[in-house]
Amino acid sequence: MANRKYIVGNWKMNGLQAQLSDIAEIAAVAAAHPTVDAGICPPVTLIAAASQASPGFAIGAQDCHFAAKGAHTGCLSTAMIKEAGATYSIVGHSERRADQQESDADVKAKAEAAHEAGLGAIICVGETEEERDAGEAIDVVCVQLSRSFPDGASADWLTIAYEPVWAIGTGRVPSVDDVAEMHAAIRTKLAELMGQGSDAVRILYGGSMNGGNAAELLAVPNVDGGLVGGASLTAEKFGPIIEAAGAF
Ligand code: PGA
Repeated sequence: MANRKYIVGNWKMNGLQAQLSDIAEIAAVAAAHPTVDAGICPPVTLIAAASQASPGFAIGAQDCHFAAKGAHTGCLSTAMIKEAGATYSIVGHSERRADQQESDADVKAKAEAAHEAGLGAIICVGETEEERDAGEAIDVVCVQLSRSFPDGASADWLTIAYEPVWAIGTGRVPSVDDVAEMHAAIRTKLAELMGQGSDAVRILYGGSMNGGNAAELLAVPNVDGGLVGGASLTAEKFGPIIEAAGAF
C-alpha cells in the first residue's frame, strides 16, 4: 500500500508575527485535504503562536540540539521545541550541514534526541552538483544516510528528505528518472538499515518543488511527499502542492 503523502514547508529564516496569518491560511488548505499530512516548520520564534492558532496542524522545528540541556549558547533542546508546540524537527538540512558544519554523527544524534523527546524527525540528505557530475550522487547519499541513521528508527517518527543541494532555491529540479533512481536507492538502503517496516518510512523530495512540478514529482515511485522551501511561504504557493498531493 502506498504511503500517505507528506508535504512539509521549511520556512528557513523567514517569517515574523505578521506572517502567522499565512500559516493559518495554509492550515486551512491542509484541513480541506485530510488525505494529506501537511505541516510548516517556521522559525522557532513563531512555533508557539502558530501551534496555538492552528491546533491539529503539524508545526515543526527546523533544527534541534542533540543534548538535553547545558552549556550550548543559542541552541534549543528537543524538550524546548516540544514545549513550544512542535511535533517534529527537520535535522541535517544541507544549509546547516554547510553553514554550521553539522556532521552525519551530529545529525544521527539530533534525530535520536528528537525521538527521545517524543518528536518526529525529518533527516535531510543530498549530493552537491560536483558529486552528481562525478557520477557519485547515489553513493554519497547512501553513505550520508547510513551515517546519519538513528538507532531505533521506525516509520512512526522517522522521515527522510532527499534534497539535491544544487536544486535548493535554484529553480532547477532533477529529471524524473534521476529522482526515481535516487528514491529507489534510498528505499533499498532503508531496508538494509532497518529491515522490516522500512517500506513505511516516507521519503520526501526537496529542491525547487512548486505548484507547477509537484504532481509530476509526487507521482514518482517512492516519492512520498515534499520538503518545500520558497514555495511554502504563502497559501497561494503552497496550497497547490497540498492539493496535488491530495490527488494521490
Ligand atoms: P526550495 O528549498 O524549495 O526553496 O528549493 C527546499 C529546502 O531547502 O528544503
